[in-house]
Amino acid sequence: MGAEVVIEGLTKSFGKQAIWRDVTLTLPPGEVSAMLGPSGTGKSVFLKSMIGLLKPERGRCVINGVDIVTCSEHKLYEIRKLFGVLFQDGALFGSMNLFDNVAFPLREHTKKSETEVRQIVLEKLEMTGLAGAEKKLPGEISGGMRKRAGLARALVLDPQIILVDEPDSGLDPVRTTYISQLFLDVNAQIDATFLIVTHNINLARTVPDNLGMLFRKELVMFGPREVLLTSDEPVVEQFLNGRKRGPIGMSEEKDSATMAREEAEAAAGVADGSIDEDVRGVVPQMQVSPGVPARTGERRRKDRVMKILHTLPPAAQEGIIESLSPEEQQRYGVHPHMLVPAGTRGPDTGSMPSHHQGQLPADQVAQLPGNGWDGGQPRQGSHRMRPRGDQESG
Ligand SMILES: Nc1ncnc2c1ncn2[C@@H]1O[C@H](COP(=O)(O)OP(=O)(O)OP(=O)(O)O)[C@@H](O)[C@H]1O
Ligand SMILES: [Mg+2]
Repeated sequence: MGAEVVIEGLTKSFGKQAIWRDVTLTLPPGEVSAMLGPSGTGKSVFLKSMIGLLKPERGRCVINGVDIVTCSEHKLYEIRKLFGVLFQDGALFGSMNLFDNVAFPLREHTKKSETEVRQIVLEKLEMTGLAGAEKKLPGEISGGMRKRAGLARALVLDPQIILVDEPDSGLDPVRTTYISQLFLDVNAQIDATFLIVTHNINLARTVPDNLGMLFRKELVMFGPREVLLTSDEPVVEQFLNGRKRGPIGMSEEKDSATMAREEAEAAAGVADGSIDEDVRGVVPQMQVSPGVPARTGERRRKDRVMKILHTLPPAAQEGIIESLSPEEQQRYGVHPHMLVPAGTRGPDTGSMPSHHQGQLPADQVAQLPGNGWDGGQPRQGSHRMRPRGDQESG
């Protein structure tokens, strides 16, 4: 199984420039998580901090009992072998053919014979759809092939944790879907813990089990995909809709006058370049390819999420329950619409799309993170939703 990564109070700055502070989250073992955030919010710095390439000033990042922020160089070297990292551009050596590129970590970090190396390299090239391309140089292949070669190289040491930085950069939408499929298939085959940093809304909505978002130098949210996909948090909503209107500006946060003007324009029906008016809601998650074994991480996640179900906002609970099969609903003792607070569904809501049902009433929305309710209180579990007790059950 993949390793769990426990991050607590992680804080990073460069000189006087604070990048993010007090980041706390847990990457559940063998699950696929994605980190979103506008450009420059420190997502790449976050990945580099996770493998010890950058040193945060405060906080912990614990993997297999070792805190990589404070451990010795020797320990760090050992821990790094658990990681497979896919950098933005594949980071292949330009003068080496694909075979040698993919073989590199094996020759560098293991004492395997050339026969064993050959067997592993060919297996990973096959897995990433590059069989037959082993003699090609990186300069002779397309961007999509370079990405897949980077992934093949990230896989050779049988990583327990796979970090991916912007897998879609330079890829067309179809190739992006193929590489997303590959991540889920690889996850099913080796059960590694994934963290994907991405700007790609489609990937974020359909691939990961968990989503997080960095903004204004902090982790706005991290939790099961259904929580962010149904969130009313303005910055999360704006990002997942790719909208101009909202707190995220071109280079920095917007002032309130600009936001008020945008609201007025939106009310007057002025188009702002987004694809859809509101794509909030839980869309079905991408599944593994036919013939690939089921993801054990997905199964474990169901048990995990059902245990914390009562702590999540009603819309997320609804989305989670609806994504279960009738058999699973029976096994967990739940059924659709059971959690909608009494009194919020008038007789006219029957025809609304299901993701509009079970939304938080306005007074509860005001208590969500980003709306000022938790003012730096310690977080509950690996998400920042306040446990809501049984107030909306029944
Ligand atoms: N080694 C470094 N030294 C000083 N500043 C750095 C260093 N690395 C990154 N930064 C700064 O940290 C900030 C966050 O950078 P980072 O690359 O993590 O952003 P990002 O969220 O990955 O952005 P993008 O989505 O555009 O890739 C930037 O302001 C950048 O200039
Ligand atoms: Mg980056």
